[in-house]
Amino acid sequence: MKPPTPSKGNIYLIGFMGSGKTRVGTALARRLGLPFLDTDAEAERISGRSVARLFREGGKAGFRRLEQRVIAAAAAGPIRVVAVGGGAVTRAANLRAMRRSGTVVRLRAPFSVIRRRIGKGAGRPLWDASGVLFRRREPLYRKAAHVAVDASGTPEAAARIIACRLGLERRSPAPSAPGELMVRTGSHSYPVLVGSGVLDAVPARLGRLTSARRAVLVSDARLAGGPGRRLAAAFRRSGWKLSAAFLPGAEGAKSLSAIARLYGFLLRSRTERTTPLVALGGGTVGDAAGFAAATYYRGIPLVHVPTTLLAQTDSAIGGKTGVNHPLAKNAVGAFHQPVLVAADTDLLASLPDREFQSGLAEVVKTALALDRDFAEGLLERWGSLQSRSGAELAWAVSRCVRLKAAAVAEDERDLSGRRELLNLGHTVGHALEAAAGFGRFRHGEAVAWGLRAAFRLSAERGWLADPGDRALASALLGRLRTPAWPARLSWSHLNRHLALDKKVRDGRSVMILLRRAGKAVRVPGVALGDIRRVVARLSTEARP
Ligand SMILES: NC(=O)c1ccc[n+]([C@@H]2O[C@H](COP(=O)([O-])OP(=O)(O)OC[C@H]3O[C@@H](n4cnc5c(N)ncnc54)[C@H](O)[C@@H]3O)[C@@H](O)[C@H]2O)c1
Repeated sequence: MKPPTPSKGNIYLIGFMGSGKTRVGTALARRLGLPFLDTDAEAERISGRSVARLFREGGKAGFRRLEQRVIAAAAAGPIRVVAVGGGAVTRAANLRAMRRSGTVVRLRAPFSVIRRRIGKGAGRPLWDASGVLFRRREPLYRKAAHVAVDASGTPEAAARIIACRLGLERRSPAPSAPGELMVRTGSHSYPVLVGSGVLDAVPARLGRLTSARRAVLVSDARLAGGPGRRLAAAFRRSGWKLSAAFLPGAEGAKSLSAIARLYGFLLRSRTERTTPLVALGGGTVGDAAGFAAATYYRGIPLVHVPTTLLAQTDSAIGGKTGVNHPLAKNAVGAFHQPVLVAADTDLLASLPDREFQSGLAEVVKTALALDRDFAEGLLERWGSLQSRSGAELAWAVSRCVRLKAAAVAEDERDLSGRRELLNLGHTVGHALEAAAGFGRFRHGEAVAWGLRAAFRLSAERGWLADPGDRALASALLGRLRTPAWPARLSWSHLNRHLALDKKVRDGRSVMILLRRAGKAVRVPGVALGDIRRVVARLSTEARP
């Protein structure tokens, strides 16, 4: 089917050099089936001279005169996508011609991205690495444009956003109705319900999986009122008997003493081997209650109702349960797959912003490790994800669940290396979390720093060689919100925690790095010295 033609004539792409006008323009023209014109290339064709030579021989004014002719001809010609030279906005006549004959789209990218793209500025006579010209030009682009689009990712992603913003293409639909996915493992398979309102469906769905009509709800006190009350009411409406126990908040739940108290509750309330334990909460409740379910009477049925973004996209899937030991996080645990997972995206509305941002880091991790297309989609939908639109959340959660389910299906016990790829960002992340003192960083925040370190180490190896891949990863990592790197954290302290990692031997660490965006690989011999250098650079850049 032929895509619709823009009703407002040409699509002009404006922006600073390196914002990607030519590459985005080419991708957009291909996408819309329109001809493409690059004003710099057209000036070269007409004059038979390169832009650099035109500047040298005719000066800036000479070049601008020629450029103005090219733009005037484009405005009078057939409809097409036009990539406009960076300085064209300095002439009022160009602005009038463009705005009269089409839609002017500004491509936005941070100067750090532009500088990386331009490098030394070969063939760019006006390149100014100091950023002065960039800052002077930005207000002109802003004023000239009808629409502004983030172009710090790949050209295809920017082209897709432009086509949607101009109403020439519909957004790929996000699932709005609740969906059901399956996790299939060697031990058993289970459904994962994702979407708005799936919490209310838990009792009926569970009723189809077991003949029991008594369940134990385990949560943290913070969730007792809202989701806890709602879930209890749904159980009672479906004729279930329910008793409830509460764990301490956050990491406090993941202690052997909290588990011992929970065993006591389970015994006193006569919980039987067939009684399902329903874990309602974030990753901490899921890990702790899951561990109790794995070990009480050698295993009772477990249902996860995850309430944080991190738990819905990651920890509730795959059967890892466990608690912390005073000497090490997650040191005591068991594999215990749930019988049902219900990820109700409505629950994320009350999640504090910091927890939500922390969860996004794990989402970005999954995308960068396993699925480039997902990573592009994340960049494109970043704004709507931030507003926690239900459909967008369901889309992101479903994508993560599907990717994690595939890794778990292949490598349930985390032995073959497949599941390990999801540890991208976790070597430095775990060390930072522990070295800074548990509680200072949320898990996802520490992972975000770990992802940045993994990104640098990958780039140093010459990986992420495709500039589009590099830009995509860097744009996503740049969007993650994290507290600053702790100013007083010394390398020796961090190194002590790195060295505690089982995967460190002879001054080298096994790390997960990025060969490409969406393609993580296990790298057995990363020198601690390399990690030190990268961390030192990251930590100084991060300080104001
Ligand atoms: N098992 C796994 O595979 C796996 C994977 C990744 C992380 N984890 C573990 O997950 C834990 C982190 O989990 P987390 O990030 O979900 O944090 P969390 O469980 O500590 O929850 C964070 C805070 O948010 C509150 N909260 C939870 N849901 C809420 C909601 N809907 N509205 C308002 N407040 C809400 C909680 O009470 C808590 O105070 C870590 O212990 C980590 O080791 C496990």
